[in-house]
Amino acid sequence: MDISAEHDVRRPVAVVTGVAQGIGRSVAEGLAAEGYALVLADLKDPVETLATVRDMGAEAVAVVGDIASESHVAGLAEQVRERFGQVDVLVNNAGVSLLSPAEDTTAEQWRWVLEVNLTGPFLLCRALGQLMLEAGSGSIVNIASIAGLHGVADRAAYNASKHGLIGLTRTLAAEWGGRGVRVNAVCPGWVKTEMDAADQASGGYTDSDIVERVPMARFAAPGDIAQATAFLADPARSGFINGTALPVDGGWTADASWTSLRLGKR
Ligand SMILES: NC(=O)c1ccc[n+]([C@@H]2O[C@H](COP(=O)([O-])OP(=O)(O)OC[C@H]3O[C@@H](n4cnc5c(N)ncnc54)[C@H](O)[C@@H]3O)[C@@H](O)[C@H]2O)c1
Repeated sequence: MDISAEHDVRRPVAVVTGVAQGIGRSVAEGLAAEGYALVLADLKDPVETLATVRDMGAEAVAVVGDIASESHVAGLAEQVRERFGQVDVLVNNAGVSLLSPAEDTTAEQWRWVLEVNLTGPFLLCRALGQLMLEAGSGSIVNIASIAGLHGVADRAAYNASKHGLIGLTRTLAAEWGGRGVRVNAVCPGWVKTEMDAADQASGGYTDSDIVERVPMARFAAPGDIAQATAFLADPARSGFINGTALPVDGGWTADASWTSLRLGKR
């Protein structure tokens, strides 16, 4: 990160993780369009996302590294403090998927998924939440999943991590809401991203499995998740929403219809 440039203090600052592709990239572009300065965090250098948001006029820097590493997160928070002196929004989006029957899931796989999907967001909330608490304002949006609200077979580690992330969200909302820091979660249904392509390639499911299950008869687009995230990030639009887990799923979690009943309504 180049810490030499001057930050325009009138612009709110957002830290977004997992921005090299998929949902995180769309979230970063959406926040850039709304005038945020951006810290783009990913394991991979988010070259294309950085170029796009800069083309959109956003002040933006990339921080490459593993969000599950405590020392990396501490360094990231220090760079944010030095470069911007503030952070208004944190979007914990980086995550990994694991499709595996519970009885075949190794302890190593389990720990890896929990580290990236739950410990990483906790470390970022703790480090950047400190800056928000000092300022008395801020908004954290955790990208969970409908798999954090319900069980889905062959995803024990992933689902436990997302249930945990929603538990973390509700707890921080209770702990920090009185000091001006809101914490919410977005729970996407299935979204067309590289993660979906990899999961389908491993034989987990097909497009029609998902489309048949969703009342609105389609996958989410990354932009659907980005819109909900921008809404929860912005105190002008969601200033009294704290501790919610918002499904963005085309009605999936609301719908207990059997398949022929659902398909008969199309
Ligand atoms: N795609 C879906 O259907 C879907 C559904 C519900 C929830 N989600 C959640 O949304 C988030 C984004 O999903 P996506 O589909 O865009 O995934 P993706 O795999 O397409 O992108 C994830 C990004 O996170 C980064 N990342 C992974 N591990 C990291 C680490 N340890 N440190 C830093 N960066 C790391 C990757 O490099 C990548 O750029 C994830 O938390 C995922 O669980 C996705």
